[in-house]
Amino acid sequence: MNKRRKQLLRELGLSPIWHLKSDTSEQNEISASSLTEIKGSILPPADVTKDTQDSQPIHLMNWDQLKSAVSGCMSCPLSQTRTHTVFGVGDENANWLFVGEGPGAREDAIGEPFVGQAGKLLDQMLAAIRLKRGDQVYITNIVKCRPPNNRNPSSGEARQCEPYLTRQIELINPKLIVALGKVAAQNLLGSEDSISNLRGKIHHYSGIPLIVTYHPAYLLRALPEKAKAWKDLCFAQSTMQSLR
Ligand code: URA
Repeated sequence: MNKRRKQLLRELGLSPIWHLKSDTSEQNEISASSLTEIKGSILPPADVTKDTQDSQPIHLMNWDQLKSAVSGCMSCPLSQTRTHTVFGVGDENANWLFVGEGPGAREDAIGEPFVGQAGKLLDQMLAAIRLKRGDQVYITNIVKCRPPNNRNPSSGEARQCEPYLTRQIELINPKLIVALGKVAAQNLLGSEDSISNLRGKIHHYSGIPLIVTYHPAYLLRALPEKAKAWKDLCFAQSTMQSLR
């Protein structure tokens, strides 16, 4: 196995655990073909597919490379049922990053996040704190392909997509992340805590302050909770002001 492949597998946590215990010979190390076979069942993260001569590992990609990798991604079963990948939209140097769960039907049809009813409410929530999509604001999701019937993405699907979101966050380098709803909050924070426990605190994602609020689609069904979301947005705004 060449040095670069060894290093990549080690970084992905796939090496040396997939070596046979009793034999460390070259024959028992993972070959490119066995990785492809394993991919269908164990679903290693999306990065594994990028270990070729002509493509970059995701964590080194620039915006264009990342967009192109996402649009061609076949790393999980959601790729089989999507119409469009939904990469994200907005100011690539934004101070504010809003992260939702995953595309719904309208987003899948158009290829842009939060363009349905929940998106309209999100735009109103942004306007309430004098923000608008595209202006110091970037919006994306935990998964870039629509989970069928708008179910929650599985943890495996979220894990597959994670390297793309991680790289987006590195490239944007926002001052503050707002997690919209339980799926976004739990995946970004690696927590299983309820949204009511996660709200009202400053968490951190790779050193970036992160605040949790309700998902706009939930607020459409639970109107009385809008007051709490308003409180969260004010908290996010004052947190941002304290960071300047
Ligand atoms: N819900 C989400 O979480 N994301 C979208 O893009 C649309 C609806």
